[in-house]
Amino acid sequence: MENALIKSESDYTNKYKQSTENPERFWAEIADNFTWFKKWDNVYKCNMKSADFKWFEGAKTNISFNCIDRHLENKGDKTAIIFEPNNPNEEAKHISFKELHHEVCKMANVLLNNGIKKGDRVCIYLPMIPELAITVLACARIGAIHSVVFAGFSSLALATRIQDCSCKTVITSDGGYRGAKTLNLKKIVDNALTDCKSIESVIVVKRTNEDVNMQNNRDLWLHEELEKVSSTCEAAILDSEDPLFILYTSGSTGKPKGMMHTTGGYMVYSAYTFKNVFQYQENDVYWCTADIGWITGHSYIVYGPLLNGATTVMFEGVPSYPDFGRFWEVVQKHKVNQFYTAPTAIRALAKESLDWVKKHNLSSLKVLGSVGEPINEEAWNWYNENIGNSKCPIVDTWWQTETGGILISPLPNITKTKPAFATLPLPGVQPCLMDENKKELHGNNVSGSLCIKFPWPSVARTIWGNHQRYLETYFSAYPGYYFTGDGALRDEDGFYRITGRMDDVIIVSGHNLGTAPIEEAINEHENIAESAIVGYPHDIKGNALYGYVIVKNNPNNEEEALHLRNDINALITKQVGAIAKLDKIQFVSGLPKTRSGKIMRRILRKIAEGDVSNLGDTSTLLNPEIVDEIQNGKI
Ligand code: WTA
Repeated sequence: MENALIKSESDYTNKYKQSTENPERFWAEIADNFTWFKKWDNVYKCNMKSADFKWFEGAKTNISFNCIDRHLENKGDKTAIIFEPNNPNEEAKHISFKELHHEVCKMANVLLNNGIKKGDRVCIYLPMIPELAITVLACARIGAIHSVVFAGFSSLALATRIQDCSCKTVITSDGGYRGAKTLNLKKIVDNALTDCKSIESVIVVKRTNEDVNMQNNRDLWLHEELEKVSSTCEAAILDSEDPLFILYTSGSTGKPKGMMHTTGGYMVYSAYTFKNVFQYQENDVYWCTADIGWITGHSYIVYGPLLNGATTVMFEGVPSYPDFGRFWEVVQKHKVNQFYTAPTAIRALAKESLDWVKKHNLSSLKVLGSVGEPINEEAWNWYNENIGNSKCPIVDTWWQTETGGILISPLPNITKTKPAFATLPLPGVQPCLMDENKKELHGNNVSGSLCIKFPWPSVARTIWGNHQRYLETYFSAYPGYYFTGDGALRDEDGFYRITGRMDDVIIVSGHNLGTAPIEEAINEHENIAESAIVGYPHDIKGNALYGYVIVKNNPNNEEEALHLRNDINALITKQVGAIAKLDKIQFVSGLPKTRSGKIMRRILRKIAEGDVSNLGDTSTLLNPEIVDEIQNGKI
């Protein structure tokens, strides 16, 4: 990757130009850094109208081989993964590339032994322990498609994801540690599997040693399975367009979308962006605090770093345990050079005493990153001054599950940074802004819908099992363009600032939540007729959730009301997960609707924000009188 490193601002400008003038040559040169068992016939063949994307077609490779085997000769003893446990008194683990190779081969053999073949879907429901990264790489090694489900999701949410792509096996653990809590993961899996016919086996990692129920003919302990297999496992020779993984993301309506990514393009793009956005140098220690259950963990804990032969930290815990100094203690302990986290974590830590920061030596830090939601100026400044000592450029990286890798971001010490701006597109990325008439906005000082007008290697290939939905969601609003769902502005310097979602997806603490599944969960309550969820600004979470709920029988007193609110949140926790609990619940007698029966969320959003000065035209509503009632109602 060294020859693909962008070295200066003029180098960036040149490379950007080359990437638009001759994308084929540009990407072929970058792809030459990898091991291909057979070279491609075409660099790309893409159609933005039919959402048909092929990169490095005809080439044969294996991403697990490129993450591990390729480094064995020169850096077999280098640490690939540093595992930092939840409990600071438990020793951290350093896993070298050689050891990782051994573990991944064994895990791959366990999968093969249990009947998993190329193309089979493997659900991974694990806490942030090394086995999670190892299983991901083991799937990739044999061409099985991994579908990692974040271990904070409920059994119903897990079941939906297992059913949607008919997984054949689930890898889970007895339990997981998360701060002061333990998660009963095996129990959650057991509940999910009452309704998942495709599952043939469950492989269980021992982590917390708690008692779990092991079902005969289905459940297996990983440590016992590992004893049965050898540590030799040739990497499968896969096509560049063979599916690599499915990862679910929330949509504004309907069930979650299984975004499918494939092998070659994703490999080239995640590695290229990792190298450049973090300016990773050999011997640096890099730490991304995300969970591998999200795309950030896929691309920038596992694949991007390992493809570059980097040392990547995997952290099991949370920023507040055992105290608010944990992140900084880990940075000091492992001498972290690049630190990548989410604005919600920064805001939460900025609220606590600065002593938690000052107690630690953060002088190893060179680059700070932010991802997942817009970072407000105040948080940006706090991060810059207190964590980066005003010396570490902040890379505010904009991207999505669908994009596979970072698309817009500063390059540290190369391009300029600006608080709250993701700034400039990476080479190969052609963003644009569209106006209400679906016309591209040219020039600077404009704002509109953020689209991408040219394909890049790691764009999702489809929504698993539903290409039509993929087309409609991303390629129909602006034919010929990929629509991101985000609004953005371009300032006088041509820098992009992402202003937020334009659809009914709400980002709470960096997690994308669709309103529809939450509303469906609430509506299951026998005393609830209908509901509408909107987001409102929250100083730590970015957005919090506000629910307007039509009850059939109004609660008679405060106690009954509290009871109903608790019931609602319990239903949400069960169906979606605790991350989707509502912060505020208002009981109403109706919801503002258009004559065609659509809920006017814009009005509900304004009321939730406490900004009722300009509710806009409400005269077209079917029931304008309801607006006053909601505005004057209490919660
Ligand atoms: C938002 C996470 C502003 C955005 C990698 C996007 C951001 C959604 C940023 C995707 C950023 C992500 N600035 N907004 N730097 N990064 N977003 O799929 O709304 O979990 O569409 O991928 O997060 O979230 P996802």
